[in-house]
Amino acid sequence: MDAFPSPPRDADSPLSDADSPRNARASRNLAVARWLLGDAGRAVLAALPPYRSDDVFALTARLRREGLDADQAASALTLSRLRARAAAKFGERAGAMFFTADGYEQATRLSVGALHAARFVEAGARRVIDFGCGIGADSLAFTLAGLDVAAIESDPVAALYAAANAPKAKVTCANGLATELPDADAIWLDPARRAEDGRRIASPERWIPPFSRALSLARGFPLAGIKVAPGIAYHALPPRAFVEWISERGQLLEAVVWLGMGTGRAATIDGERLDSGAKTADEPAVFVAPRPLGPLLFEPDPAIVRSGGIARLCEKHGLAPVSEGIAYLTGEAVPPHCAAFEVLDVVVPEAKRIKRSLAAHGIGRTEVKKRGTEVDVAAMAKKLSGRGGDAGVVLFSPVLGRHRAIVARRTAVTF
Ligand SMILES: C[S@@+](CC[C@H](N)C(=O)[O-])C[C@H]1O[C@@H](n2cnc3c(N)ncnc32)[C@H](O)[C@@H]1O
Repeated sequence: MDAFPSPPRDADSPLSDADSPRNARASRNLAVARWLLGDAGRAVLAALPPYRSDDVFALTARLRREGLDADQAASALTLSRLRARAAAKFGERAGAMFFTADGYEQATRLSVGALHAARFVEAGARRVIDFGCGIGADSLAFTLAGLDVAAIESDPVAALYAAANAPKAKVTCANGLATELPDADAIWLDPARRAEDGRRIASPERWIPPFSRALSLARGFPLAGIKVAPGIAYHALPPRAFVEWISERGQLLEAVVWLGMGTGRAATIDGERLDSGAKTADEPAVFVAPRPLGPLLFEPDPAIVRSGGIARLCEKHGLAPVSEGIAYLTGEAVPPHCAAFEVLDVVVPEAKRIKRSLAAHGIGRTEVKKRGTEVDVAAMAKKLSGRGGDAGVVLFSPVLGRHRAIVARRTAVTF
């Protein structure tokens, strides 16, 4: 662990004023992280029972009696909680990994890291810089795919954990913007998109590093990938990039701007890539003329919607939007990568009218969805849900330009 003798101290570092209480806290966090990674910390972690929030008080008391200080006890239990949560992202491997709370939130799940790695391998990369590696989730996936990884992380605790989580990567604790980057044929950048209070940062220019800075760094390498928010606007994208929106089990996770790997846009759904038909990353999505709503309504996977792949999906499966620019589609048969709904009724969007229709169709528990209209989904679901009866869905949306509530039932889900 001597690869991380001290936190970086430069103008951009939060640790530049060594005497501030904040820096005292940072030094303490680093000392506790080192302890957790050492034999004593690992022995404590190994002896903890599976995490249950109800046990925390009793376990804290036990650890304190065993001689741990308050920070050590709290950190061991936090890590135990994060490892339990992280099984969703890393499977069994999570039980031996090291996380900070922020690092965990920002970490790429292993299946998606494997997709990133596969893109680099397919493009012929051998040595990748992981710029801002966090706790090392992408670095781990890159090394598992056989890539040689030079990882850089400015947060000293995250850097220590990255070295433990991705032992085959060479991790350096430094501000990558103030350091000469090593030679590599590819660079991976995953800018931090959360503020210190945990809130998401919407503006790409306020990400750390800012998107424009990430792009200029990326352009210095033959191959590059930049993870971005999936809601990024097309006009913010460089035209000569290939942009991939990634979803798993219907959940949109991220988008990646690839440089040196062609141009266009695609959705990657549970590992399967669907090209949107766009020739450049920034061109507008193709418009499809709407059609009257039939007995079936489809909601495409969000990665298809974001990548602008609706026109291609409609063309391939004989579908059309229920209103101009709305990603609720209608057609004869259930297409792949879409949630499907059997339409029971279409009514004006007034609670009384909708409730009457739900009752007439024997629907109690009601899920609410919306597109192209202002509705408080949670409040409306509460208002419309009744006891007993079947499960149903009310979709608020324009239908051929008129705001409507579509009363429906889920049919086969093909996510
Ligand atoms: C979103 S996280 C990376 C998560 C990582 N890809 C993973 O899957 O675990 C972004 C990280 O970049 C680091 N970072 C931001 N600017 C940096 C810089 N100039 N130099 C080094 N690291 C930086 C942050 O400290 C943060 O840990």
